[in-house]
Amino acid sequence: MSLFLIKSILSTFFFLSGLIALLCMFILMGKTERKISSNLLRKLHKSSGFVFTALLFVISYICIKYWAMAGDQLSTRADLHAVLALALFIVFLLKILIVRFFKQFLKFVPVMGMTVFALSFIVFCTSAGFFFLRSLSAKSETPEISIPSQVKLQGNIEKGAALFKSLCSSCHHADKEERKLGPGLKNILKKEKLPSSGRPVNIENIRRQLRTPFLTMPSFKSLSDRELADLLAYLEIL
Ligand code: HEC
Repeated sequence: MSLFLIKSILSTFFFLSGLIALLCMFILMGKTERKISSNLLRKLHKSSGFVFTALLFVISYICIKYWAMAGDQLSTRADLHAVLALALFIVFLLKILIVRFFKQFLKFVPVMGMTVFALSFIVFCTSAGFFFLRSLSAKSETPEISIPSQVKLQGNIEKGAALFKSLCSSCHHADKEERKLGPGLKNILKKEKLPSSGRPVNIENIRRQLRTPFLTMPSFKSLSDRELADLLAYLEIL
């Protein structure tokens, strides 16, 4: 199972636990008669809060690990996702601190709770939502006709190997087809279909993957045509 799918599933539970905590609070604060006892609601709020916190840590760990591998190649969407997640973390931490130690600010807690929920919704949508939608749209995408690249720059295999080592090897094996974070790239140019997107294998589609990647791989927009040709020359001999 891909790391992103695991992350999306965990995020769904993360979001749901936030929703349960929020609903419990709303019912507790409501003035109308309740069928459920306040004590039970408080307990439910607290335990879903614990699940929320635990998942927040696990998911952040996965993200930070991926971030370390992707370096500074993250997309704007991923940057936004990270900044919002950090904001969520800070507001949530403040909320917990107030509840535990600074009770004089208790009146801010409901607004902070709602902010945490709103942020977790947006953070969820900018990642898991994106992942699910992209996977769906990729399935309905019509396969492209292979177009041979018009201008074929002659790449340098050695330079390509060095580029691969510094940019790609943290996520892709070059010597086997097994998955690392992304699919292994051995024999990649000898296949018919690309491993993740199912697009036909040709230079254009690999170039496309590096410029505007399918799903979650970081984009390598800053690579020059020369560097791309070197990388492709290296991929050709894998
Ligand atoms: C941070 C991890 C990461 C790095 C770095 C990375 N990739 Fe990927 N790559 C992935 C993942 C994950 C996938 C699977 C598709 C997806 O989920 O985005 C993938 C898929 C691919 C595919 C298959 C695309 C398809 O359409 O099936 C190719 C080819 C590829 N990467 C080449 C490269 C090359 C070349 C580099 C270096 C310039 C590179 N990748 C760097 C994570 C990475």
